[in-house]
This record gives sequence, C-alpha cells and structure tokens, in this order.
Amino acid sequence: PRILILGAPGAGKGTQSAKITEEFDVEHITTGDALRANKDMDISDMDTEYDTPREYMDRGELVPDEVVNAIVDEALSQADGFVLDGYPRNLEQAEELEDMTDLDVVLYLDVSEDELVHRLTGRRLDPETDEIYHVEYNPPEDPEVEERLVQRDDDTEETVKERLRVFRENTEPVIEYYDEKGTLERVEGEQSPDEVWEDVRATIEDAA
Ligand code: AP5
Ligand code: ZN
Repeated sequence: PRILILGAPGAGKGTQSAKITEEFDVEHITTGDALRANKDMDISDMDTEYDTPREYMDRGELVPDEVVNAIVDEALSQADGFVLDGYPRNLEQAEELEDMTDLDVVLYLDVSEDELVHRLTGRRLDPETDEIYHVEYNPPEDPEVEERLVQRDDDTEETVKERLRVFRENTEPVIEYYDEKGTLERVEGEQSPDEVWEDVRATIEDAA
C-alpha cells in the first residue's frame, strides 16, 4: 500500500513507521532522515536563504520546498509500496505530492502539545541501529545501548518550540486539506505505542 503518515513533531510518526514497514513490507520514505543524512549538502545554487539544510533544521525551520520535493520525487519513483513520513509539510508540498503519486491511506496521529514537548525533549536515538527510545516511556533494556544513546540536534527546548510553531502555521493547513477531501484517518496518538499501533494497523488493513 501507499501510506501517508501525518502528525506534529513528536507525534510518533517514526515509531509507527518502523512497525508499518515491517508488517506491510513497504519502504520508509522520510524527509527528516534524508535531510539529516545530507545536512551539509551545498544548496547555495538554489537561491535559498541559507547554504545547507543544517541551517534550517537547527533553527526548527522548514528546508526549502525545492530541496525537499526533489528528495521525495526521487524516492517515490523507486518505491512500490511506501510509508511517507515528514512530507508534505505545507500546502505547496501537498500539491506537489498530488502530481507525484496516489495514496491509499492518509493517517493523522493526533497528540496534544504538552505531550509533544515531553516526548521530544525525552527522545533518545541509538546511533548504531537508529532505534527510537524515550528516557521515560521507552528506555532500552540493555545498559550498553543506554550508554551510547544520543539526542537529536533539534530536540532542545528552544528548537522544539519553534518546530511546533512551524507545524501550527504550515502543516495544520495540510491536515485540514486532507480532512476536507474526506481521506484523513484520525488516530488517537496519545495512547501507548502498542495501542496506537493496533489502531494504525487496523486503519491500513481497512483501506488497503
Ligand atoms: P522530522 O525528522 O520529520 O521531524 P518531525 O516532524 O519534527 O518529527 P519527529 O521525527 O521529531 O517526531 P516523530 O513524529 O517521528 O516522533 P517519534 O516516533 O520519533 O523533521 C526534522 C526537520 O527536517 C524539520 O524541522 C525540517 O527542518 C526538516 N524537514 C523535514 N521534512 C521536511 C519537509 N517536508 N519540508 C521542509 N523541511 C523538512 O517519537 C518521538 C518520541 O516519543 C520518541 O522518544 C518516542 O519513543 C516517543 N513516543 C512515540 N510514540 C509514543 C507513544 N505512543 N507514547 C509515548 N511515547 C511515544
Ligand atoms: Zn520522525
């Protein structure tokens, strides 16, 4: 299936996408990960304000559409089934996506803002496996793993606030856009990861 997963920063898009790729044998296309892997790419010839994705990401701002659209277009052209995570983040990107592919299901993970801040500031990543953890909600069992965990550069309190502001301003209209089209499947994101997963899986199975 062709799955789009929408949600605010920290809503659990990455966590649920990992389960989706396993269960439904689809590719995880994520603009955030793709940009993090190319943070210092020179984009100065693209008529952008800053010269690298890093400059935008560390401020919590959106990387210019031109850069992100190209990443998604390329990834989609090579994928059969996919779960798309982190895109579209504004209405211009939503229109671009319309031209690139059809979607079978559009999920929206609904989580309150207080909870989002708590999830993001407590998130930790395993640099060896890319596994997503949380200091309280989902700590690793293995002390060796715990020792090597790192925090994402943009998970500081200040940047988190800006990311949430950018979400409200640019991405909430995208959610309304799919809602008005009648394709948005709202999932209660403020349950345990396993409970969210039950709802996500059922929604995809119903749609596919
Ligand atoms: P991106 O990487 O997409 O970040 P984001 O949207 O801010 O989302 P996150 O990855 O922070 O959260 P998530 O929903 O994946 O949550 P997770 O599962 O990790 O983008 C980063 C930056 O790249 C942007 O700011 C921008 O600069 C740039 N960018 C990316 N795409 C772009 C685009 N299209 N256009 C322009 N710029 C773009 O979970 C979070 C935490 O909560 C974890 O600790 C996890 O363990 C925990 N958790 C998860 N689920 C639960 C649960 N049910 N209960 C309790 N804890 C949970
Ligand atoms: Zn993510």
